[in-house]
Amino acid sequence: MSLKERVVIVTGAGSGIGRGTAELLASEGAKIVIAEINQTGGMDTLEAIVSAGGTAKFIQTNVADEQSVRLMVEAAVACYGSIYGLVNNAGIELEAELSSMTVADWDRILSVNLRSVFLCSRAAIPHMRREGRGSIINIASVHANFGFERYSAYDASKGGIVAVTRTIALENGPYQIRANAICPGYIDTAMWASWLGAQPDPEKTERETRQWHPLRRRGTPLDIARAVRFLLSDEAEWITGISLVVDGGMSARFFGS
Ligand SMILES: NC(=O)c1ccc[n+]([C@@H]2O[C@H](COP(=O)([O-])OP(=O)(O)OC[C@H]3O[C@@H](n4cnc5c(N)ncnc54)[C@H](O)[C@@H]3O)[C@@H](O)[C@H]2O)c1
Repeated sequence: MSLKERVVIVTGAGSGIGRGTAELLASEGAKIVIAEINQTGGMDTLEAIVSAGGTAKFIQTNVADEQSVRLMVEAAVACYGSIYGLVNNAGIELEAELSSMTVADWDRILSVNLRSVFLCSRAAIPHMRREGRGSIINIASVHANFGFERYSAYDASKGGIVAVTRTIALENGPYQIRANAICPGYIDTAMWASWLGAQPDPEKTERETRQWHPLRRRGTPLDIARAVRFLLSDEAEWITGISLVVDGGMSARFFGS
């Protein structure tokens, strides 16, 4: 499953799933581009990778911004010469009812979560086509497959990611570029912790969410990183256009049961 010497951009790699993914891929010899808006998070990931003997470059990036993404991809190519992989992971969430949501909030969630996939893929694909190979992994969510009250913008952004993944796969298959989405369930990260902290009884919710999973635990960034590693690699060379649910079996349960 060698990713040795392959250049992989990981967006939102300053925390959580993105950091776990960047560290795992770097440990396999991939050259990582940490495309992250948060300077401290990006530098921390860079330091972790380099001190473990890996290769990485931190490029401060706002994935929702066209110019910032263009400059990031240009800098990545200038530094490493090519791009093999793109992990569109950066994302934010918002809990708000649709009936009272502002246009600014809706646009912010859709821009960071979905427009970013368009911008980063559009910028990276010409370099992948030049190489005649590439693999794009888009981090969606189980929110792409189910409705969650007070998450309309997030749900729409994640459903959009799964849809656009299929189109990217169709348009780029002839160039040997694959595109797949991953739908994580509940993963212990800063995003999860902030959701949990906002619940009326966090300890009770923490216990309940473990029980929702047949495997009786929530996921870790490594659980998702391993799925990213597989889909990025040549082991998955005939897999494109799919969305892979990685959720400890949570989606197998009918919630009324
Ligand atoms: N944690 C979960 O339970 C869970 C479940 C399903 C899907 N996801 C998805 O996984 C992805 C990663 O989530 P996480 O839980 O690791 O969250 P996290 O908050 O720990 O990390 C998200 C990272 O994205 C960065 N980021 C935010 N806006 C950005 C921007 N405009 N440009 C560049 N970077 C930006 C943040 O600074 C942060 O480092 C997200 O897309 C999220 O929707 C998470």
